[in-house]
Amino acid sequence: MITDAQVYSLKENDNLFFKVYFLQNNNFYVFFANDRLASIYGMYEKINNIYYLKANYNSYGSIEIQNESSCYVEYNRNSIQYKKILSYVKTKEYNISITIPEGEYIEKISNENKESFNPNNESFCSAPWTHLYLDGSGNAFPCCKNKKSGLGNIETETVKELWNTEKLKLIRKNMILGNKIPSCETCYLNEKRWGMSYRNFFNSKFANKYELVKNTNLDGSLDDVNISFLDLRYSNLCNLKCIMCSPYSSSAWIEDAKKIGTISKDNIIKPINLYNSIKDQLPALLKNVTRINFAGGEPLLIKENYEILDQLISLKRFDVELTYNTNFSKLNNFNQDILAKWSYFKDITIKASLDAIRVRGEYIRKGLIWKDFFMNRDLLRKKVPHAKFKIFCTVQLLNILHIPEMYKYLKTHMFIDGSPESFHLSFLDWPRYYDIRSLPKEVKEKANLIYNKFIDELDNQRLKDHFKKVLIYLNEQDYNYQSEFKSFTEKLDDIRKQDVKTVFPELKEYFDIINLH
Ligand SMILES: C[S@@+](CC[C@H](N)C(=O)[O-])C[C@H]1O[C@@H](n2cnc3c(N)ncnc32)[C@H](O)[C@@H]1O
Ligand code: SF4
Repeated sequence: MITDAQVYSLKENDNLFFKVYFLQNNNFYVFFANDRLASIYGMYEKINNIYYLKANYNSYGSIEIQNESSCYVEYNRNSIQYKKILSYVKTKEYNISITIPEGEYIEKISNENKESFNPNNESFCSAPWTHLYLDGSGNAFPCCKNKKSGLGNIETETVKELWNTEKLKLIRKNMILGNKIPSCETCYLNEKRWGMSYRNFFNSKFANKYELVKNTNLDGSLDDVNISFLDLRYSNLCNLKCIMCSPYSSSAWIEDAKKIGTISKDNIIKPINLYNSIKDQLPALLKNVTRINFAGGEPLLIKENYEILDQLISLKRFDVELTYNTNFSKLNNFNQDILAKWSYFKDITIKASLDAIRVRGEYIRKGLIWKDFFMNRDLLRKKVPHAKFKIFCTVQLLNILHIPEMYKYLKTHMFIDGSPESFHLSFLDWPRYYDIRSLPKEVKEKANLIYNKFIDELDNQRLKDHFKKVLIYLNEQDYNYQSEFKSFTEKLDDIRKQDVKTVFPELKEYFDIINLH
């Protein structure tokens, strides 16, 4: 049952504490400080110059927050800033007003605008002309870095409708004009901070920018759905329950989230599979596509992903570039020989997620069997030797001290070639208590020593820069969510019959002195 949402006035950078309800179809994503129900992003609507986050009840039901002080909203990846909630407007739909940076409303651009378009302007990205991202609940977004501009849901809208939504049209028009897009701020921020972004990737990968813009109607629409790059994750089915993941991405998390008390009703989060919603549209999509990224959930466990491969094989589209974000824990599923299927494709990249090796890896990526991961790497090398293999590591509190050692191990054992591209580091989105910036001073100092020594030993400047980013991030701010870390970890250890201090003895001292309050 929906009760009133409550919002508190805030100062910039305050945590936002309020009680709210989760609305899947409207992409209203809420991060909860103390639980696993993270990553709900706002789909907002502008009424009288105020942006509203709509919070509708839907078939997934509401999520009750029992302890409102353990709930906060966070809009930005990497927790850079919390947006201000100015007031709460109560309507039938339980709207919550927020301020977000203004995007400019433009009804139509002109032909002159198109002619004077500069593809190197500071806003343009080819993604809105070439790409569609579907999340594990079927929500569509311009890309995985822009989850603020929810375009709709594949369950209720066709790809054609999603392709010409008012939001996407407005983004295209503003990009042609060179106006920055508020919901693309992650890319702008990354360019400033790290000198590169997903936008840069799109612009070099899909370089024929003039052509794209030439075909754009003055209202921002495109007549043809010509998607080159599909990013598919229409299911949360997964066999692992990595500590930093959630039931939204992993069905295996659901039971533990219930036990830990972060899902209070049985029917709230369930295994999802929205493949049927796109199935009929796939043949047309697969004709034009040049790249597909499979993620999930766990893409190798999602049976329908094999159907997509079969369709590509029967179309002889061996030129399609395939990439997988996978936990790489299990290659033999549904009697399907995935390695044989992969070997048809010329360009295939396995982005295997791994946050630590051996027991530490098994603790963080709960359910992973290290030996299997090791053997799967061997199998891939033997059966699909041309496949590129990269490690994707999420930098977090428990693994930070071991990442340099892990890199050396993976290189020595030929998991990766050791290039910066083969070892991808990204920072945790949430929960905040696993954020490395919340480490105490002593552990940060230790991390600085380990990384500086390791960086000195490297002979490749790009690789040095790669690891320096961890230190920049670590040292840029001091958070203190240590007591949340301890209480959550104790609960999780209890449920999972494990002990953080045994697996990570280097953190024992730190763990013991944290006071719970
Ligand atoms: C959600 S998973 C889905 C694909 C696949 N199951 C896997 O593990 O690669 C995609 C990536 O997100 C990472 N990830 C999980 N939880 C995260 C979090 N809280 N913050 C940042 N990245 C996270 C995973 O480690 C993985 O590399
Ligand atoms: S394997 Fe991927 S989807 Fe599954 S729990 Fe881990 S990060 Fe989440």
